[in-house]
Amino acid sequence: MILPIYVYGQPVLRQEAEDITPDYPDLKELIKNMFETMEHADGVGLAAPQVGLPIRVVVIDLDVLSDDMPEFKDFKRAYINPHIIEKGDNLVSMEEGCLSLPGIHENVKRPDRIHVTYLDEELNPHDEWVEGYLARVMQHEFDHLDGTMFIDHLSALRKQMIRGKLNSMVKGKVRCSYKVKVVK
Ligand code: NI
Repeated sequence: MILPIYVYGQPVLRQEAEDITPDYPDLKELIKNMFETMEHADGVGLAAPQVGLPIRVVVIDLDVLSDDMPEFKDFKRAYINPHIIEKGDNLVSMEEGCLSLPGIHENVKRPDRIHVTYLDEELNPHDEWVEGYLARVMQHEFDHLDGTMFIDHLSALRKQMIRGKLNSMVKGKVRCSYKVKVVK
């Protein structure tokens, strides 16, 4: 089932999301719906707050990029209760967009490697260092779980440049190809 994607201005996007317990109701179904929603919107990552749920669940699909990056063939994973516990010192800049910020694309500087802990879809625990493009997407998505959006990382000048678009979004003026939930 395709869920509406919550757009900038929705309070849930600014909330601290909670870890879930293994008995969280219909978790498999939620993950399936999140994958479907993300694919429909042509995204590579989606965090539960973007579908209105303040819980620590993220899906990432990098298979769509595997023509250019063969290491991501069949890469479709869910991350439950992820936490970044350490970040590398080396910062790299890359353009980002977000399904909750339609029409905005900006360069964001982030560490090129991170140390993460999470549970996979089978609830097996993982503790690992991740680098490169996956580290980039993880940081963007896991930020959502702390109520942070990529625009928070921009310089004052760049924020100024996108203020008009953000103000329109908050007023419910959003143009995009997928189903969204705007602020009333
Ligand atoms: Ni996002």
